[in-house]
Formats: sequence, C-alpha cells, structure tokens
Amino acid sequence: MVRTVPTHTVPPGPAGDVDMALMRESPLDFITGLARRYGDITRHRADGDTVYLLNRPEYARQVLKDNGANYTKEGTPDDAMLRPLLGNGLLTSNGADWARQRHLTAPAFRPSAVRTFDRIVTDATAGMLERWAPAVESGAPLEVDEQFTALTLGILTHAILGADIDGIGEGFGRAVDAVNRCIGHYVPDPDPDPADTARRYADFGRARTFLNTVTRTLIASRRAGGSGGGAGGNLLDTMMSADHLVSDEDLRDQVLTIVMAGHETTAKSLTWTLYLLDRHPDELAKVREEVDRVLGGRPPTAADLQDLPACRRAIQEAMRLYPPVWLISRRAAGPDRIGGYDVEPGTLVCVSQWVLHRHPDYWDAPDAYRPDRFDGAALPSHLYLPFGGGDRICVGQHFAMLEAVLVLATLLQSVRLELVEGFPVEPEALVTLRPKHGMTMIARPR
Ligand code: HEM
Repeated sequence: MVRTVPTHTVPPGPAGDVDMALMRESPLDFITGLARRYGDITRHRADGDTVYLLNRPEYARQVLKDNGANYTKEGTPDDAMLRPLLGNGLLTSNGADWARQRHLTAPAFRPSAVRTFDRIVTDATAGMLERWAPAVESGAPLEVDEQFTALTLGILTHAILGADIDGIGEGFGRAVDAVNRCIGHYVPDPDPDPADTARRYADFGRARTFLNTVTRTLIASRRAGGSGGGAGGNLLDTMMSADHLVSDEDLRDQVLTIVMAGHETTAKSLTWTLYLLDRHPDELAKVREEVDRVLGGRPPTAADLQDLPACRRAIQEAMRLYPPVWLISRRAAGPDRIGGYDVEPGTLVCVSQWVLHRHPDYWDAPDAYRPDRFDGAALPSHLYLPFGGGDRICVGQHFAMLEAVLVLATLLQSVRLELVEGFPVEPEALVTLRPKHGMTMIARPR
C-alpha cells in the first residue's frame, strides 16, 4: 500500500476566527490557554491573519536567530503601532536599513560605553529619594510605577543628550510623556472615543516636533564643534562620532526611538522587582545583606556591579515572571518549516516571553520567585528572553541592567518599599507588561 505523505501540515489550534474582543481583554490568558491546550506550536486565525505561537526555545531560536533573515518586523502589529510614532528608526526598520542603523547605534551601547553613565543613574536616584523624604517621614503612599518611569526617563534623557540640557530636560520629559500616552493607549480597534484619540495624536504631533527641534539644535551645536557637555560624553556624541556620514535625520529618529524603547521597559522591571522583593522577605534580606556588605553605605559605581550578583538575580527573576516585553512578533517573508509544520509566507509568528518564562517543562515551580535560579547555571538557548534574541536583541540591554542594578542598590540602602495593604496587583499586557492599577507602596526608612 502506498502511504500518502501530507505535503502541507498546520499546527493544532482553535477552529475559526478567534474573538478579538476576548483576546484583547485578556491576552495573557489567551496565549497561556493556547499553549496549554494545543502544545508547543499552535495556530489560530485572528483579524484575517494566520498566527503561529511558538512555545519551545528551539522554535524561538529558529525565528529570532538561526533563520532570522526569513522573518521581518514589517507588517506586524507592533510595526503598525510604532511606525507612525517612531518612523523608521532602529526598532522599526528592517533589512539593510536596519543593519546600517544598528551599526551606527551599537558602539554607544557597548558595556564599556554604558559604564560611564553610573553617576547619572545614582545621582538621579539620590535626587528621587530626596523628593521622597516627606513621604518617607509621614508614611504617605507613593505611586512607585510612575516614580520609576519619571526616573528612568530622566536618566535616559541625560545619558543621550548630556548634562547641558538645563531647561530643556523638563520640556523633553513632558513631550515624551505625550508620546507615551499615545503609545500606551494604542487600540487597534476603532477607538470608542475618537475625539480623545485625535487629541492624543495632536499632542503627539506637537511633542514630536519639540523633540525633533531639540535634537536638531543639539546636533547642530555638536557639528559646529560645541562640547557634548557632561563628564563622560553622551550617547548622541558617541553616535555622531561613530560615523561621520550619518545624517541629522537618522540621528533624530534614533533619539526618539531610544527614548521610547529605553525608559518604560526599565521602569517596569524595577516596579516588578520591588514588588516581588516586598512579597518575599527572605529574598529581600539576601539582597540587602549584599548591598550593605559590598557598599558599606557609599553610592554604588559601575565597578561594583560584579560584586552585586544578588541584586542582578533579583531583577533577572522579576523579568522572568513579569517580562516588560511579553510578546515578540515577526512575519515570515518566505516559507519555512518549524517543529515539522509548514510556515507559509505572510504567517504572523509570535514568541511570548510570558509563556516561555513560565513553561512548566523548563522551570521548577515556574510561578515561584526564586532569584537563585540565575546562579550561573546554563539555561537552554532562547528560553529566557527578556531582551529578545538573535541579531535584533535589545541594543540597550547593558544600559538597562546597569541602570536597574544601580537604582535597586541605591534604593535599598535607604528605604524599604512595602505594598499598601490590600492593594490589587494584576499584570496588564499593553505595549509593556505593567501593573494594571499601578503600584502604590509605602517607603519606610531603614
Ligand atoms: C529592562 C529593560 C528593557 C527590556 C526588557 C527591553 C526589551 C527589548 C526587547 C525584547 C527587544 C527586542 C524586540 C524584538 O525583537 O521585536 C528590544 C529591542 C530594543 N531595545 Fe530594549 N529593552 C529594555 C531596555 C532598553 C534600553 C535601556 C534601551 C535604550 C536605551 C533599549 C532600546 C532598544 C532598541 C533601540 C531596540 C531595537 C533593537 C533592534 O531592533 O536592533 N531597550 N528591547
């Protein structure tokens, strides 16, 4: 008997189109449900698209790294959301254009380059603690999620533009806020309140014009031979000196992209870390003991990072449980085969950190907060992806880790953050994974 071998196979998944309203209401439950019910590679139809969800590290690796050239960001939902706002910067570009931009940007983000920003981070954190002093004294609650967003934005602005931005910094912060509101409230469906959307987009337009004007002025002054300002130079100077042929327009796109990609994510990792440490006093005690022993009360520097492994692990484990970027999507340019299934060109292929980071086949007690998992033991490639993987791995990952560890160590030297009794904490998967109701905590003096 001649057996016919199927020439076209598709992964298991729900029949028919999924209910978009349901999916948007609870995307984390939706993708977790798909993985539990249908396994390591699933298929569904949504919004006219065929979508594969890949739930094994080797499949993630195939799409992000080994066969990464076959997968583009073009035409993904992320692209539709970010491109109108960020143009064709490093986060949104593809192919040769992306490679050129990455080449331009990467030197500014090398570990040796970002180390020079340690003082900016610790000074900004000390400034925040000073502003917190009345609340620390009175026990008044603080919206720490918002506090960390303002902190990381201030740090990044300073790091990009240098120290000579007095007066501009505040306006810059307000403009970024307007852009954030636009991105944060992005709804792919028709907006229930179009007037509100129009207002946000108008704010965004003004903000972008402001950011572009500031950046253009700074670039012009650098080109004219002005100093970069600040002790250790800044990211804009480094990018400018990386390649003299780079255009002003490129630099403007990069500045906006880096600001938008680089502060909210780091703020979320800090928010979730402080929340988890509060819920796990034993782990908090370990981190505090390390901070006290290594620093003896002085501000941390980049040179201390290697001696603060417990701080780093506390953050890594928080990003496992609450990955600030919870989903990566790509579109297949050409055909591929993953896990024995055909991938047709045009298929939307997704990898979710939320699913992989809690996959019961790979992690013991996947929902438990255990920073010691990151004690140096090797993990399967592309299982833990807070910063993504392959060529398009986060260009700012060293900056982010330096910043997060230094902020955490500085904070723990002077306060203990306690969640307000009964405060509801629930993750919400928007552009980043944020606490739905914010994070209201009380800063107790140590
Ligand atoms: C904890 C903090 C951060 C997290 C969790 C994070 C996460 C990520 C992830 C997952 C990607 C890959 C997205 C994809 O493949 O589709 C990415 C890309 C990127 N990130 Fe980050 N990021 C963080 C901090 C930063 C910082 C501090 C900066 C800049 C200062 C930055 C700038 C970028 C840029 C420009 C890209 C695009 C890189 C490219 O496509 O070549 N990120 N980030």
